[in-house]
Amino acid sequence: MLKRLFLLSLLLLIPFQSFYAVTAANSKAQEILQGAKYPVDFRWGTAVAEWQNSGSDNLGRSNWSDFEEKILKNGKPTIKDGQKSGKSCDCWNNMERNIAYMQQIKLNSYRFSVSWEAIEPKQGEYNQAAIDHYHTLIDSLIVAGIDPMITIIHFVHPGWFEDLGGFEKQENIAIFTKFAEKVFTEFSSKVKLWCIINESNVLGFQSYINGEFPPGQKGNVFLAATVVRNLMQAHAETYLKLKALPNGDKAQIGFVHQYLTFEPYTWFNPVELVVTKFLTACFANAPVLAFLKTGKFNPIPYTSSWNYEAPTKGPLADFIGLNFYSRILFNLCKLDTDCYPDEIMTDMPYALCPDKFYNAIQEVSKVGLPIYVTENGIADKFDNRREIYFKGYLGALSKAIKDGFDIRGFYYWTLIDNFEWNHGRHLKFGLVEFNDKTKETRLRDSVQLYTDVILASAA
Ligand code: BGC
Repeated sequence: MLKRLFLLSLLLLIPFQSFYAVTAANSKAQEILQGAKYPVDFRWGTAVAEWQNSGSDNLGRSNWSDFEEKILKNGKPTIKDGQKSGKSCDCWNNMERNIAYMQQIKLNSYRFSVSWEAIEPKQGEYNQAAIDHYHTLIDSLIVAGIDPMITIIHFVHPGWFEDLGGFEKQENIAIFTKFAEKVFTEFSSKVKLWCIINESNVLGFQSYINGEFPPGQKGNVFLAATVVRNLMQAHAETYLKLKALPNGDKAQIGFVHQYLTFEPYTWFNPVELVVTKFLTACFANAPVLAFLKTGKFNPIPYTSSWNYEAPTKGPLADFIGLNFYSRILFNLCKLDTDCYPDEIMTDMPYALCPDKFYNAIQEVSKVGLPIYVTENGIADKFDNRREIYFKGYLGALSKAIKDGFDIRGFYYWTLIDNFEWNHGRHLKFGLVEFNDKTKETRLRDSVQLYTDVILASAA
């Protein structure tokens, strides 16, 4: 009898327990929201890039498929441990799985890039099967209540375009614009949110200064500036062309910029000061933001060799896509990037610094365009810092909304553990964990907090 009574009382307690769990989750979310009133149509999303998620084996020859096969002069592979993208987390063949996860997380938008090498494997020859693949993806997203946002190019282009000199050659810009027009014509009746080029500044920096992206050149500031200049021209010309196409007036077409600054670990260390000033300048925050406002790009002071002036003063975008990860602290004693003792380092290695995210929002807002946070996330293999990250960054986002900044969406980078460029499979940014050996997937525990915030923001 006593045993039965005990069991019965446990049963009666269950609804109270879950009530308290829900209330606790809700109060955590409310704390993050700080009373901010999110717009009703705010996009809560996640962002991915096709090559990172589907790999060269699904997509075909590209500058990255060539690069991952290369061995450097010092005998080392270009990708950490000589890893290959293969099929990565095989998103090409698993769109239903991905959409089910997005629904479970309560996301209402998905930023993805299309594969130029899959759609146009030979110059001027389009692959209908690849185009149909994206129609199916877009239709399935819409049916699931998830708004698609397309990025036309995210660091990867076909091998044949690389053979022609890629974005190093100004005359190749028209080839990219033609591809962009093709993609826009195919999908713009269904897709309203567009990004043309992902992070021109990162592409220039990583490919020609840091040497970590193809073609792997180091310290070539001149070529880096040339490529970024050409990408600015590519953006401006493509933007104007797409706006003039059918559906162009209804589409929101953005410019995606990674806002990153380098800072000295010790403010009075002259070497750290000079190095970080130089690196921040190479990252071109100020010239890129000025370009969006004025139509004039002038990346290197005292010379006009890399200047570009767009055919119209502006606007050159309908929104600015802010990608933000961290600021980089340079510590000469370690000859490496660092973080202060009261900060938490992530696996990238980027320190968690939500206050700098707020600063970045302030800076990009000066362009005067609506803002979408098109990427923000954390590499956290053991999922033991992601909840702290959500509290900090979604807190900073809420503060910015509360302070009146015109922010229309937030896209967590990224949906599922993927192939992190030259770092290969080592970095785990995913909301969903992907087991490289068994190919099994699992939603990470910390993601519940993201869902709670999304739900509470709509309440
Ligand atoms: C890129 C992503 C990348 C992320 C994390 C961003 O700069 O757009 O492709 O995975 O940073 O490194």
